[in-house]
Amino acid sequence: MTKQTYYLTTPIYYPSDNLHIGHTYTTVAADTIKRFRKAQGSEVFFVTGSDEHGQKIQEKAKEAGKTPKQYVDDIVADIKVLWEMLEIDYDGFIRTTDDYHEKAVQDIFTKLHDKGEIYKSRYKGHYCTPCESFWSESQLKDGNCPDCGRPTHMAEEEAYFFKLSNYSDRLLKLYEDHPDFIQPESRKNEMISFIKEGLEDLSVTRTSFDWGIKVPFDPNHVVYVWIDALSCYITALGYGNENDENFKKYWPANVHIVGKEIVRFHTVIWPALLMALDIELPKQVFGHGWILFDDDKMSKSKGNIIYPEPIIELYGIDAFKYFLMREFSFGNDGSFTKEKFLQRLNSDLANDLGNLVSRTISMVQKYNDGIIVEGKTKEEVDDSLINIATAAADKVEDYMDKLNFSQALEEIWKLIRRTNKYVDETMPWVLDKEKNTERLDTVLYNLSESLRIISVLIKPFMEKTSQEIRRQLGLLNEGIWEDAKTWGLLPVGTKVEKGSIIFPRLDVEKEIDRLNEANQNLIDERAKKKGLGNNMTEEQKQEVVEEQEVITIDDFDKVKLRLAEVIKCEDHPKADKLLVLTLKIGEEVRQVVSGIKKWYSADDLVGKKVVVIVNLKPVKLRGVESNGMILAAEDDEGNLSLLTTLEELNSGATIS
Ligand code: MSP
Repeated sequence: MTKQTYYLTTPIYYPSDNLHIGHTYTTVAADTIKRFRKAQGSEVFFVTGSDEHGQKIQEKAKEAGKTPKQYVDDIVADIKVLWEMLEIDYDGFIRTTDDYHEKAVQDIFTKLHDKGEIYKSRYKGHYCTPCESFWSESQLKDGNCPDCGRPTHMAEEEAYFFKLSNYSDRLLKLYEDHPDFIQPESRKNEMISFIKEGLEDLSVTRTSFDWGIKVPFDPNHVVYVWIDALSCYITALGYGNENDENFKKYWPANVHIVGKEIVRFHTVIWPALLMALDIELPKQVFGHGWILFDDDKMSKSKGNIIYPEPIIELYGIDAFKYFLMREFSFGNDGSFTKEKFLQRLNSDLANDLGNLVSRTISMVQKYNDGIIVEGKTKEEVDDSLINIATAAADKVEDYMDKLNFSQALEEIWKLIRRTNKYVDETMPWVLDKEKNTERLDTVLYNLSESLRIISVLIKPFMEKTSQEIRRQLGLLNEGIWEDAKTWGLLPVGTKVEKGSIIFPRLDVEKEIDRLNEANQNLIDERAKKKGLGNNMTEEQKQEVVEEQEVITIDDFDKVKLRLAEVIKCEDHPKADKLLVLTLKIGEEVRQVVSGIKKWYSADDLVGKKVVVIVNLKPVKLRGVESNGMILAAEDDEGNLSLLTTLEELNSGATIS
């Protein structure tokens, strides 16, 4: 029987700075879903990654005195270490600077252009540099950027546009036909109102910076972040590359997990792009809330950044993951405080779970020499425990289907608390005193069996703790999800093994100081590491960047230029702005498509000599193959002239 597949993604993070616990939240949630679906038997593919292009990163790198690539390499290395520390079980880590992604994005862009979904025009508007976004007058909030609140400035540039305005009806129909496409419900309503206000075409390239994927047929333009970034969800599966087996196997995604501020990009732009490309749509986009700090957004300038590394180092990954998934209701914002974290650690993990494990194993050791013995009696209190234990998995499933992690954990904790209560109700120490062995055996079996079920239920959330409980219970196998639905699977005769306390109780006040100190040490360490760039003067930084922008003769040598004679020239059959030229380059004849029809008609060019790049990868422009690029000069008034030589030379002459 083939396994059901399940594909899920996190957003790809900007490596403009180290990730804080807000980012970690998204990834931990996705990791939990992966583990849950895997335990249920699905074949899961989980993609995360980094979104590395754009003006902001280019500027940050300059500030640090590094090339953009060096800058992102360093941060991405830290991100990968963080995911390793957290044992994030991802299957693909996509970097938007990966070659295979860049190639696929260029193909996607060309395809959209060929289909007439992307066109060139000019863009004028209020530009927000940090958000790299243009806004119309009506979109501004109090005259500032509606996303980040910072001032904007008027800017105009030539840009390619995606015909997003054509998609309003299809998007509204998508939301209607697939009510679960946007979750939670409140976010769907926001998107419906947004679309009903009217969608404008979307500018999808920039010429104001060059740290991005070049438009293959117009390299002055770089593909703007959203086509580049969103495409990662399919390119990570091999879309647009020779090996696209994973794409065939896993697409469409079951769920894209995203923060609430990027729901719009994922539920408006992304499905419209996929519709334009005739690709199936993802099944769901879930927009979770933010983790706030004292009701404020976390930011460096506010000095309230909390990094996950110190928490993990001091308290382990399970405590951290548990807290993130339990404390916050996934769809809503929630406030993080160290007190809340430590209190939950003490109450839920040390008092409830830790205590249950240690008292159960101790009693089996004390009263039955560590051996699980068959229970032969049955009382009402046993049924009550068994019923709650065997019903828990279904309830957890229901909540997990809705990505309600917090309630799923609450269901598991109901069972943990019920089992602790069972100890108080049955009082094994009294049964021992009374020498009521039969009843004592039953109680100890039921306690251990309930713990086995708990170990299965918590596994997607706390893998290490689950393994430790199973080790202490003497279980050798890992257990599958379905095991949580059947009572009595714990083999009689198993020998339990006492281990250390899984979650010790902590002194909250003392721990807050330790946490603050560890967090501050990390902040200082990172500042020192980056200090390299900070200690440079502005001039030194400029020098580094200029040095990096200079190319060597070897770089130039890579571009092969030849003189070519135009022997035939025709209008492109499908595009108004393109000419199709047949060129003679020495003995060779080849075809090049060029966007110069605004300046030259087909008849003007036959017999003329032009300069052509001959080693450019061939592309199809609106369905016609172009094998090379002819060079032209353009002044700032928009006048254009093709390049040629001062003296008459034979076609095929090399240019160096
Ligand atoms: N690069 C884009 C995403 C492109 S996806 C095709 C981006 N990157 S980001 O690094 O700014 O944010 C990534 C994710 O982290 C977002 O989902 C965002 O909501 C999440 N979080 C960042 N800070 C957060 C909190 N304080 N709380 C919860 N999530 C937060 O956007």
